[in-house]
Amino acid sequence: MNPRNTPERWGAVSQSFHWLIVLLILGLAIVGLTMGDLPRTPKYFWVYTAHKSMGITVLALMLLRLGWRLYAGAPAPVAGTPRWQAAIASGTHWALYALALAMPLSGWLYDSSSGLRPFRFFGLFDMPKLTGPDEWLAERARDAHELLFWVLVLLVAVHAGAAFYHHLFRRDETLVRMLPARRARPLPRQDPDHVA
Ligand code: HEM
Ligand code: HEM
Repeated sequence: MNPRNTPERWGAVSQSFHWLIVLLILGLAIVGLTMGDLPRTPKYFWVYTAHKSMGITVLALMLLRLGWRLYAGAPAPVAGTPRWQAAIASGTHWALYALALAMPLSGWLYDSSSGLRPFRFFGLFDMPKLTGPDEWLAERARDAHELLFWVLVLLVAVHAGAAFYHHLFRRDETLVRMLPARRARPLPRQDPDHVA
């Protein structure tokens, strides 16, 4: 499969970034929304550190993805797309980039300003702090982390809804070109002795 984007479809690199990050954000959302209710056992801190480490992983992946997007560009809009729709789709994509970067940054800022000990990234090394302890900033960053999440949920609902609408009702290539290409089926073997 072509690693590069072509004028018709997303290549393997863009597709891998897209679907891997979708899965990681889904996992982070489920853990983030439920971890506060866990009983205060040592497992509780383990889950928080896992959430933070995975969130920083998304930040790193999003930065790489942004670099790839700026370098490799994007396919042309699907044929027949009105110009206003292409503009909305492109605006939504850049807003998703901004949100998927702002989510982990706000989490990291909250962790930094809340005055906790540095967390160990997957138990490997201490993550640097972005600021010293600051109660006011910690509250703002926590509120931002929650608010940005619900804005992301809203935008993803519109974005995924549009993709399925194109697939099911417009029956165009929008969704399929973000999925691995199905290999062309090999032609049936010709029997050399049998000439029709
Ligand atoms: C794309 C990345 C991330 C996503 C999607 C995500 C998602 C979430 C969600 C949905 C919540 C629950 C919000 C609420 O209802 O209060 C949450 C809470 C939290 N997240 Fe994240 N998170 C991400 C990255 C991070 C990072 C990088 C850190 C820290 C380094 C972090 C630290 C926290 C903490 C400490 C809480 C608990 C907040 C509280 O006590 O109310 N998150 N996260
Ligand atoms: C089930 C959920 C999702 C579906 C079905 C979906 C589907 C798609 C499709 C079909 C495209 C290609 C659109 C085109 O060619 O014009 C696309 C692009 C894109 N999607 Fe999603 N998506 C989903 C979730 C997400 C999430 C959670 C994010 C958040 C980071 C996201 C961010 C993007 C971005 C930034 C692009 C532009 C391509 C790029 O620059 O890499 N999507 N999505």
